[in-house]
This record gives sequence, C-alpha cells and structure tokens, in this order.
Amino acid sequence: MKRAGYRKALITGSSSGLGQEYARQLAQSGTHLILVARRRERLELLASQLSSSSGVTAEVFQADLSQDEEIEKVALKIRQTPDLDLLINNAGFGGHGKFHLEETGEAERMIKVHVLATTILTRAALPSMIAGRWGAIINVASVAAFSPLSGAMYSSTKAFEVMFSENLQSELYETGLKVQALCPGLTRTEFHQVAGIKVEAIPGIAWMKAEDVVRISLRALSGHKVIIIPGMKNKLVASFLRCPLTFGLAHWGSRQKKIRQIADGHLR
Ligand SMILES: NC(=O)c1ccc[n+]([C@@H]2O[C@H](COP(=O)([O-])OP(=O)(O)OC[C@H]3O[C@@H](n4cnc5c(N)ncnc54)[C@H](OP(=O)(O)O)[C@@H]3O)[C@@H](O)[C@H]2O)c1
Repeated sequence: MKRAGYRKALITGSSSGLGQEYARQLAQSGTHLILVARRRERLELLASQLSSSSGVTAEVFQADLSQDEEIEKVALKIRQTPDLDLLINNAGFGGHGKFHLEETGEAERMIKVHVLATTILTRAALPSMIAGRWGAIINVASVAAFSPLSGAMYSSTKAFEVMFSENLQSELYETGLKVQALCPGLTRTEFHQVAGIKVEAIPGIAWMKAEDVVRISLRALSGHKVIIIPGMKNKLVASFLRCPLTFGLAHWGSRQKKIRQIADGHLR
C-alpha cells in the first residue's frame, strides 16, 4: 500500500546524534514523534523546537533501555499507540575496552540496549502494523557488525541487529511491512566522545554527517534492500570486512602482536 509518509514514529536515542536527526527529518515530513532517551531536558528541548517549527506533536518518554522494567514501559507505550507506523531502534553506545577486562557490567548493558530493547520494542510494534498492513522498523546497526576488530560486544550485538532484521523481513514478507538494518560507518555524533574513543587522528574524509546518513536511511525505506550501508567509502569498508580473508588477516595480526609482546617480555 502506498502512503505519503509515516503517521507517527517512536525513536529511541533521540536526545542526540542520529536519533535527533531522524526526529528532525521526520518532523519536516509531518510525522508525529515519540522521543525516547535518558536525558529528559534534551528531549523536551527538541520536542518543543520541532513542534513549533514543523507543527507535529512530539511526546517525550524518558527511559533507560539498559533496565528491563523501563524497556517494558516503552513497550507498553508502543502497544497503547495503535497509529505508530515507524519504530526506530537507534539507542546505542560503544564499548570502553576489552571484554575480558571490563568489570562494570557494560557487556550486559549493551545486550539490553542493542539486543533486548530492539527485540521487545519490535515485538510490541508489530501487531498493529501488521493489522494495518503498513509500517516500518529501522534497526540502527553498524559496519562494525561485519568487523573482527570493533570490540567483542559491540560487533556481536550489532551483528544481531543485522541478522534479526534480515530474518524478520523474510518472515514479514507477505505483510507489506519494511525492515531495515542501517549500517553506518564513522558518523559525526557524540558516540565516540561517550565511548572515550580518540578520533583526532582519523582524517575528515572518513566521516559522514548524521544528516546524510539519516536521509539515505529514510529514502531507502521505499526500496527493497534490508541492509543499508550509507556512503561509498562505507560500502567499500563493509565489502572488505565481509571478505573471509579479512578475518584470517585479523587473527594473524593478533598472533604477531602476541609474539612481539612475548619477545619484549610483556606477556608470560
Ligand atoms: N556515530 C557513529 O560513528 C556510529 C557508527 C555506526 C553505528 N552507530 C550507531 O548509531 C546509533 C546512534 O548513535 P549516535 O552515533 O547517534 O551516538 P550518540 O550521539 O551518542 O547517541 C546515542 C543515543 O543513544 C541513547 N542511549 C544510549 N544509552 C541509552 C540507554 N541506556 N537508554 C536509552 N537511550 C540510550 C543516548 O541518549 P541518552 O544518553 O540521553 O540516554 C543518545 O540519544 C547507535 O546505535 C550506534 O551504535 C553510530
């Protein structure tokens, strides 16, 4: 069924970066919004800016998606919003170090935010979308989903989002619903600062603007592809990462590093 646009979207992680940009672009096309994140003041400011500039309703829903009960509250909100026809599972964060050294529960929080919230919120949104034979789910994954070098938890939880989307789209084939796994590469947002990743040495040419990434994602909803990798450079990076030789090279590289460390007396 063809429609002019989406009636109402719920966007997780809309207090900054890609989530905030999804909210801006959707408001411009007349989509009403439910904005979800932990930082209420930021959501309230965005909601008032968007409702006065675009005339849409923008509701604020504060939630920490690393907490089971708060995921359930958002799921209930979704079930109580039958005109919701776009769900964007965008909230996410990067890891602060190696899996075996991390002791603050970051791995568990990442599973909750990237995997559990995505699963539960999608499950909550589907019944009314299927009944109306109209709607879309965007899961914001990453090119890291294909990488052996982007952190054990970050890559694996992003890989979940990609395969979840691919399989869900197959299962929903006859419903007319659209599922997308967006796989951005380096994008200028607060992501790297929050993760404590130093980015000064990364050349400007490697980056995309959130504005461009989101425009590509929203446009692609009218096409047939599930995995959307924005930008030519990211497409090249992803094809290199998906090549089986890359994993061999990465493991070879790790072995060489270990051998050098042993030789230097750093590791026993
Ligand atoms: N930037 C990149 O280079 C890049 C590349 C590939 C993929 N991505 C993915 O893009 C998505 C958006 O990230 P971004 O780049 O826009 O980074 P960002 O600017 O740091 O935004 C992350 C958003 O997620 C929200 N969030 C984090 N933890 C949350 C929690 N426990 N509960 C609820 N909301 C939470 C944050 O809101 P609060 O802090 O207010 O809760 C914020 O709105 C993420 O899934 C990320 O993995 C980013």
